[in-house]
Amino acid sequence: MFSRFSRSARPVAQRLAARPVLNFTYAASAAGFAGAATLAYQQNVRPTSCEVMLAKGDSVNITEFPTLQRYILAQTGDQELAALLMGITLACKATSRACAKAGIANLFGLAGEVNSTGDDQKKLDVLSNDLFIDALVNSGAAAVLVSEENDEPIFVEKKKAGRFIIAFDPLDGSSNIDCNVSTGTIFAVYEKKGTGPATMDDVLRTGNDIIVAGYCMYGAATELVITFKGKGVHRFTLDPSLGEFMHIESDVKIPAGGGKKIYSANEGNYMNWDKAIVSCMEQYKNAKPPYAARYVGSMVSDVHRTILYGGIYLYPADKKSKNGKLRVLYEGFPMSMIVEQAGGAASCGLFKGKIQRLLDIVPTSIHERCPVIIGCKRDVEHVINEYKKQGLA
Ligand code: AHG
Ligand code: MN
Ligand code: MN
Repeated sequence: MFSRFSRSARPVAQRLAARPVLNFTYAASAAGFAGAATLAYQQNVRPTSCEVMLAKGDSVNITEFPTLQRYILAQTGDQELAALLMGITLACKATSRACAKAGIANLFGLAGEVNSTGDDQKKLDVLSNDLFIDALVNSGAAAVLVSEENDEPIFVEKKKAGRFIIAFDPLDGSSNIDCNVSTGTIFAVYEKKGTGPATMDDVLRTGNDIIVAGYCMYGAATELVITFKGKGVHRFTLDPSLGEFMHIESDVKIPAGGGKKIYSANEGNYMNWDKAIVSCMEQYKNAKPPYAARYVGSMVSDVHRTILYGGIYLYPADKKSKNGKLRVLYEGFPMSMIVEQAGGAASCGLFKGKIQRLLDIVPTSIHERCPVIIGCKRDVEHVINEYKKQGLA
C-alpha cells in the first residue's frame, strides 16, 4: 500500500498524464505538484498556476486514505503497539493544536517551574507533557514513561500497564515557542524484556534496543516522521481538516553523497569546543564554495532539514559541558536511529576517552546527556577523522 509513494516523480507524471483530473487518487494529488513540475522541467515548459492547481487536486476528491493509523496497523500487526502509537499520535495532534493557538489561548511564557535538567519550564512544556502522559497511560500499552519534564520515571499502575517503555521529549525547542518558530516532539519505544512488572533494567538500555522511534515537527505544517526498526523512515503530514496524518513519503534517505553542504551548530559555544570541532568549522568556512550555516535551535527542525537536504548537525561536548547538552534517551537515541535508518550516521565524537557510535551508549540515568554529531556519512565521518588526525582518538 505504501510502496506507491516513492520519491520518483516520473511514474507519477505518467499517471497524471493518463488520468482524467477529477479521478485523481490521493497518490496522484499528493505528489501531483512534483509530477507536474518534473514533466514540465523535462519538456522545458513551466506549468501554469492553473495546471498546478488542477494537478494538486483537493482533499474532497480523495478516495484513498493512506493514514498513519493504517500504516501503524500494517507495520505492527500488534494491537498493543498500535494502541500505544495511536496514543502518541493523539498527543502530537493535541500539542500541534496547542502550539498553533498559543497566542490566542495565553499559552506563551513560563510556567514558573524548573524541569529535571534545570531548564525553565514553559506553559507549553507542561501542557504537552500532560497530554502525552494522559494519552500514554490510558493507551493501556505503556509500562514506564520517561519524560524530559519529570524527574523520575513514571511506572504505570498495574491495571493500566502494558508492555512498552516510552522515552519522550514532549516539546523540543521550547525556547522557540514564544517567537512562533517550529518546535517538536521526540519519542523512542522499547519493549519490556520479561513478562513481570517493568524495572529500571528495562529503561536503561542501549539505543540498539529501540523498536520504534519518531518525531513530530510543529512547523508550517505538522509532520510526523517515524521508523520501525529496520523498516526505513516514513513521513506523514497532518491534514487539519481530517485530523489525520497522511502519508507523503516512503523510505526517506539523506540525499546521495551527503546532499547540501550545510553545518548546523550553536557557534556561540565555539570558544569552548574541542580542537577537532573547531578545525571542522574552519574547514566548512574555507571550503570552496563554503558550507552554508543553518541553525534553528530546535533539534527536531535542524535534524529534519539535515535528513531532507543533507549536511551535519552538531551539539558537541565543550569545556563547560563535558557531556554536551542533549539528552541520551529522548533526544540522542531516537534521532540517531532515524538518521541511521535514513542512510546517515550518528556519533558522539570523542566521548569518555573514545569515539562512540551514539546508539551504542549504555545510559546509567534517565536524564543523562551526550554529545551529538549527526547527519550524512560524508560529514560525520569527516568529524571523526578530524579527531583521529588531531591525535585525540
Ligand atoms: P528542549 O527545548 O527540549 O530543552 O531542547 C532544546 C535543545 C534542542 O532542541 C536544541 O537543538 C538545543 O537545545 C538548542 O540549544 P542552544 O539554545 O544551546 O543552542
Ligand atoms: Mn529537546
Ligand atoms: Mn523539551
